[in-house]
Amino acid sequence: MDKLEIQGGVRLDGEVRISGAKNAALPILAAALLPHATLQIRNVPRLHDVKTMIALLDRLGAGVTVGENCQVEVDPTSTCEFTAPYELVKTMRASILVLGPLLARHGRADVSLPGGCAIGARPVNLHVDGLRALGADIEIEGGYIRARADRLRGARIVLDTVTVTGTENLMMAACLADGRTVIENAAREPEVVDLAGFLTAMGARIAGAGTDTLVIEGVERLHGCDYEVLPDRIEAGTYLVAGAITGGRVRARNARPQHLDAVLAKLRDAGATVTVGKDWIEVNMNGRRPMAVDIRTAPHPGFPTDMQAQFAALDAVAEGVGTVVETIFENRYMHMLELRRLGADIRIEGHTAVIHGVDRLSGAPVMATDLRASASLVLAGLVAQGTTEIQRIYHIDRGYERIEEKLGQLGAHIKRVPGGSH
Ligand code: EPZ
Repeated sequence: MDKLEIQGGVRLDGEVRISGAKNAALPILAAALLPHATLQIRNVPRLHDVKTMIALLDRLGAGVTVGENCQVEVDPTSTCEFTAPYELVKTMRASILVLGPLLARHGRADVSLPGGCAIGARPVNLHVDGLRALGADIEIEGGYIRARADRLRGARIVLDTVTVTGTENLMMAACLADGRTVIENAAREPEVVDLAGFLTAMGARIAGAGTDTLVIEGVERLHGCDYEVLPDRIEAGTYLVAGAITGGRVRARNARPQHLDAVLAKLRDAGATVTVGKDWIEVNMNGRRPMAVDIRTAPHPGFPTDMQAQFAALDAVAEGVGTVVETIFENRYMHMLELRRLGADIRIEGHTAVIHGVDRLSGAPVMATDLRASASLVLAGLVAQGTTEIQRIYHIDRGYERIEEKLGQLGAHIKRVPGGSH
């Protein structure tokens, strides 16, 4: 596998263009199964997970054409298969997002259970219970979710835990159900709002996107549309932290500041000068060492769990002591163990990581375990003395488009080394 090799110690300076949001592109591609017509999706990021979702749509028989500049055309009218097989789902849990659309549009779906992953058990009980509330007949057998429904019926669904893809699956299914669906305690993430925008562009009737209560009036059928995916706020946040951790200046272009309020507040607490425009965000540390900050993750608009690992790296070299509390996933601390290998002083007490900032980290070989953990190791490598080698960077390629090119544009000394066997 490929590795990334980073020479630390360079203060980043420059600007980087943010790609389309992975966590909006994935549900939107799944929702492309719903209409009775061809549709265009623009600003689709070139990521491994997007390739996997496109491969899944292909497998289902939908016609998918990937254009030159991040544009994808989908013709769902040729869909003829209704199974999301284990060998695809095990590589990307977001495959579960085809469950709602296949069931609503074709009355059937057999989707492999995703199983756990590095950051936690990640069950899908809320997806299944919600679809049952909409009238689906669902059996779990042989590691598959087997769902059948002649016509889904609108219902009131209360989610006991805020779930992003659970909200998305149920919102997609409800678009073609008979009658009104109300989803309470719905996820409010910008990616959920973007999916609602896409569905509405196809003729769905959805109110309340971005609030914790969604109201969907089912319609008979959806038509095509031409839609642009919103920018990736987590990619933007990651590059802004890269500027802060190196004491430098980074401007993220094609980014929406209003989607990162909690993250920008923490960057200001760390001592950064943060300036924003309509579609850009700039962080400037003016050569200073960051101050330690306390992080507690929460559903949007709280501090995003997908930015927790990046701030753990920032705290690792900050002035003072910072704490990190992860409330969404039960095991999203793997990166802390790898950061320790670089010299970070981190103690985990229950669900709280206590991080004493150190003057310097020293480069070492480390291993990525999940997408955002690998991003935090890259960030630490940017400031560690000497060479940091990050193995298993396929995790990174799942969620960051050309990370070594974009960081290279900012002045980082980073290169991709074609991998050996491990
Ligand atoms: C989405 O995952 C994102 N993935 C994740 O991003 C993100 O970390 C997560 O939301 C939280 O924001 C995509 O959007 C493709 P959840 P999702 O359902 O939907 C529990 C990344 O780095 N839960 O919101 O799978 C679950 O165990 C990825 O891009 C149930 O108990 O997360 C967790 O504790 C990583 N039952 C909590 O809810 C269910 O049926 C939130 O999970 C569903 C979820």
